[in-house]
Amino acid sequence: MGFFIIFIIFIIVIIFIFSSKKFSPIPYFPSQPVDMPLIVKALSLKNNQTVIDLGAGDGIVIFASATEAFQKKLNTKFIAIEINPILILVLHLRRLFHPNKKNIKIVQDDIFKMDFSRYTQCTDAKFCVSTTFYLYISPWFLEKTILNIKNQVSKFSVVSYMYPLKFKANFNKFKVINGKNKIHIYS
Ligand SMILES: C[S@@+](CC[C@H](N)C(=O)[O-])C[C@H]1O[C@@H](n2cnc3c(N)ncnc32)[C@H](O)[C@@H]1O
Repeated sequence: MGFFIIFIIFIIVIIFIFSSKKFSPIPYFPSQPVDMPLIVKALSLKNNQTVIDLGAGDGIVIFASATEAFQKKLNTKFIAIEINPILILVLHLRRLFHPNKKNIKIVQDDIFKMDFSRYTQCTDAKFCVSTTFYLYISPWFLEKTILNIKNQVSKFSVVSYMYPLKFKANFNKFKVINGKNKIHIYS
C-alpha cells in the first residue's frame, strides 16, 4: 500500500513538471529519430564549432551529433539547454555514458532569459568558426528566441526543425532538407 501511494505521488509530480508552464512552456516532443541523419547533416559539424540545442529534451539531437563528431574526430562542442528538471536528469545520465562526454555540456536554464554570450564567447577569434543553434520549439516562440540570440551573439547559424523562420532576411543563405519533417537551415 505504501509503495502504491509513493508511486501515485511520483506520477503526479512527473505530470505536474511536464504540464507546468514554469518548467515546460514549450511541450516536450523529441525530434523524429528517423530524421536524425538529416538533422546531423544540417548541423554541418566542423572543428571549433559550438552546437547549442535550445530546449534539448532528452538530448536526442545533441547525443547523435556528438557521436558523429566523435567518429569524425572533430572537436565540436555541444551544449544542451533545458529547463525541465527531469529532462536535465536524463541528459546528465546519458552524458555520463557517452564516448564524447568531454565535449558535451548540460545547462539548466530558460532560453528566454539566458545569457547566450556566456556560451559563444571566443577567446581567440581564429579558433571561433561558428555557433549553430538547433531549435525545435513552438513557431510562436521562434521569432522571440532568434531576436534574443541576435541581441547577444554577432555571428550564428540556425537549424530549425519543422518550423520555418518568418524573417529569413537576417540570414545570407537559406536551405530546406526534406525529411519526415522539414529541416530549415539559415546561415
Ligand atoms: C519540442 S521539445 C524539443 C526537444 C529536443 N530539442 C528535440 O529536438 O528532440 C522542446 C523542449 O524545450 C524545453 N523547454 C521549454 N521551454 C523552455 C525554456 N524556456 N527554456 C529551456 N527549455 C525549454 C522543453 O522542456 C522541451 O524539452
